[in-house]
Amino acid sequence: MLIRYKRSYEKIAMGLLSFMPNEKDLKKLQQTIKQYETEDDQQLFLWKEEEDIIGIIGLKMSDGVAELQHVSVNPSHRHQGIGRIMVEALKRILKEEYMLKANDETRSFFERCDQVETDSEQE
Ligand SMILES: CC(C)(COP(=O)(O)OP(=O)(O)OC[C@H]1O[C@@H](n2cnc3c(N)ncnc32)[C@H](O)[C@@H]1OP(=O)(O)O)[C@@H](O)C(=O)NCCC(=O)NCCS
Repeated sequence: MLIRYKRSYEKIAMGLLSFMPNEKDLKKLQQTIKQYETEDDQQLFLWKEEEDIIGIIGLKMSDGVAELQHVSVNPSHRHQGIGRIMVEALKRILKEEYMLKANDETRSFFERCDQVETDSEQE
């Protein structure tokens, strides 16, 4: 299930964010987590299964748009649909209030999720 980020998850959140290609530099990563902690328009969610935090997804909100800034899954849990399930769960949370959109860093996976969704609707 998706849960909201809180400070006690800082280390695990940074570990998951560090898999993003644009978060390899430690200073950049520290700045990113700080922004999620302090800026009201940025929101971070974690994916929890049983007691384990295995995924992360981060947004920047503005004028009815939620920009997907980060999406990452622990390498041991990849290729099981968790990335796509997180995106779907997020859409349900955002409801009609915000339209979820990708940015350059998240576009390729986001578009793949849309494709899988369309394919399963057509079956
Ligand atoms: C992208 C990511 C979150 C997917 O997580 P996941 O739980 O494995 O996702 P799903 O199981 O729902 O989907 C897996 C499929 O996504 C596809 N995929 C993985 N990374 C992708 C990418 N960057 N762009 C497009 N498709 C991608 C793979 O083809 C995979 O298909 P397969 O299982 O048939 O091989 C994970 O690979 C990750 O954390 N990557 C590092 C962080 C990152 O680069 N994030 C930005 C991605 S644009």
